[in-house]
Amino acid sequence: MDNMYKELTNGLKMPRLGLGVWRVEDSQAADAVEWALEAGYRMIDTAKVYKNEKGVGEGIRRSSVPREDIFVTTKLWNDDQGYESALKAFDDSLERLGLDYVDLYLIHWPVAGKYKDSWKALEEIYASGRARAIGVSNFHQHHIEDLMTTATIKPLVDQIEIHPTLTQEPLRKYLDDESIAVEAWSPLGQGTILETPELVKIGEKYGKSAAQVIIRWHLQNDIIVIPKSSHEGRIKENFDVFDFTLTPEEIKQINELNIDERLGSDPDSFDF
Ligand SMILES: NC(=O)c1ccc[n+]([C@@H]2O[C@H](COP(=O)([O-])OP(=O)(O)OC[C@H]3O[C@@H](n4cnc5c(N)ncnc54)[C@H](OP(=O)(O)O)[C@@H]3O)[C@@H](O)[C@H]2O)c1
Repeated sequence: MDNMYKELTNGLKMPRLGLGVWRVEDSQAADAVEWALEAGYRMIDTAKVYKNEKGVGEGIRRSSVPREDIFVTTKLWNDDQGYESALKAFDDSLERLGLDYVDLYLIHWPVAGKYKDSWKALEEIYASGRARAIGVSNFHQHHIEDLMTTATIKPLVDQIEIHPTLTQEPLRKYLDDESIAVEAWSPLGQGTILETPELVKIGEKYGKSAAQVIIRWHLQNDIIVIPKSSHEGRIKENFDVFDFTLTPEEIKQINELNIDERLGSDPDSFDF
């Protein structure tokens, strides 16, 4: 990891560490976003289905950080997939956010029979300048290969479930080879792995928490990471990860916690 940003293939600089806001109430989202921007975050990851785009937009407007310094991601929900409906859903997201562009618009899940038409809409939105980058989420290699049979623009990002117990090495290797940036969702394993003795022990060496160790593990693996918290102290804690470096042995030890266990659905069998 050489700096705080990863350059996407179109030259756009994407922060490597952002705030995720799934399960943050709309009424709490503005506070969370404002705390994060104060703490140094420059990226917020929301989605239509999180029902908090309004609060996210309010937090952005409340903060003293200029809009152009903030990287905002939102996502196209499954019910809205298809060409016309995706165009409309995007307009609605912008309106709820109160923004005139987003930095990244993602297809949230690979809805069979629909994601290729949705992608055409995203390509058009990208061409209009209202999304500075477009990408996918929860796409396996075969979904991307299938998408590329009709796409003219290759996704710039794939946001997938990754944490120390689901390291996704084969998919990450494919994405790297394709120059598609890898972004991790549920990077802390939704908080379920923060008492793992190996992680706690590594943290003790640096005076850091297991959450900070995991975030560092993502960053040092060139994975963009969006830990969620709605607590000010934890939001700050999760950004305080730029003053220590895990050794290659520690990275390897964390890699070995992998048990290929998903917390979310498999993109090949989701039913929503
Ligand atoms: N594309 C997709 O399909 C998809 C799916 C899931 C998630 N996401 C994105 O990824 C983001 C992150 O994933 P996630 O929200 O599922 O889970 P996560 O970031 O792995 O974990 C969040 C959980 O960990 C707790 N936590 C956070 N920091 C902590 C700390 N320093 N110490 C102790 N506990 C801590 C949080 O509690 P508190 O909030 O109570 O602090 C929350 O319960 C989401 O918010 C969303 O933006 C995308």
